[in-house]
Amino acid sequence: MAGFREYKIGSKLFGIALGGSMTITLFFPSINIASVSSSEIALTKQLAIGHETGFNLDDPLLLGKNKPIGVALKADPKSGQPLEGGMMVYVYQPGTSFPAGILHTRILGAGVEELSVQQGHVTDARKDSGAVFTVNKGTYEGKQYSYIENLTATKGWTPADVIRVAKDEDLSNAGKGKTMFVREGCWWCHTLLPEETQDWQVFGAPPMLGDFNGESPTAFGSDRKAPDLLHVGSRNSSREWMMMHFFNPRLVQPHSIMPRFDYLWGEKDAAGQKIDYAKWRAEYDEYREGKRVSPPDVPSYASDSEIRGLIDFMLSLK
Ligand code: HEC
Repeated sequence: MAGFREYKIGSKLFGIALGGSMTITLFFPSINIASVSSSEIALTKQLAIGHETGFNLDDPLLLGKNKPIGVALKADPKSGQPLEGGMMVYVYQPGTSFPAGILHTRILGAGVEELSVQQGHVTDARKDSGAVFTVNKGTYEGKQYSYIENLTATKGWTPADVIRVAKDEDLSNAGKGKTMFVREGCWWCHTLLPEETQDWQVFGAPPMLGDFNGESPTAFGSDRKAPDLLHVGSRNSSREWMMMHFFNPRLVQPHSIMPRFDYLWGEKDAAGQKIDYAKWRAEYDEYREGKRVSPPDVPSYASDSEIRGLIDFMLSLK
């Protein structure tokens, strides 16, 4: 009988402990996170990556659809005047979903929200006609913040204006690439979260809380089996290296356990020729057996390929 009594007390305590911890886990962060102002990193990330890169109804098969295009703008798209030092803008073509912070400006946090609405006119942006955004700096109640500016409202630059003047090498499909990162399960091995340990020396500084406003999913990863990638674009900005490494990691790291992602090149290369994967593999095997001096060349990717997006995303991780 005594055992039964203990069981009853145990179940009540268990209920209280579970209820309490779930309240803390689910409810408290929802209050806290909205009270943190977005950092410049969070704003840039939101604009570059767009609305949602996990499973969602706009892109149920995770094909990298419904994503913005980053443009390194060198001249004013209306007047043609050169822009001193260039400017990074994010083009949301008509129909592309806006990031969470623009749909629900409260997510941007104190100061950033007011500046983005009052000076940046983000609430004037319309999905049907599309918009062009950038990150700007301003002062609110004596404090400096970065905020989002809707250039379609403030300067009259439409998505079509910007795309017309941009060259292919100025474009970044990092948003599409983040979808590839999620879909391909890179996070099984890689983290996007250097820790507060010796990680500093190898992988760079850990992120701050305000770096995540509006990001979904965060893709932190958990059990790290491979280098952290949060700042990979700062230590390796070579597109050539990335191409070789993704086509077959063993081309550059002979003992790498990373899978090859050659299928992200798709059917055709940059010149529109069909990629002959079987031939490539046969030549690579000859190279490994010492019958060839060098491995076969990695095909150049088409500009709308999935690998282009993934490499753009890697290089955007500064
Ligand atoms: C099975 C585990 C595994 C998976 C899955 C994996 N990687 Fe890797 N990756 C590694 C390992 C191990 C290394 C280190 C050796 C090397 O460079 O190949 C690495 C290295 C890298 C590097 C170079 C890092 C540096 O510090 O320079 C990049 C970039 C990278 N991976 C990106 C990716 C992306 C993007 C994906 C998903 C498309 C992916 N990896 C999937 C294991 C993995």
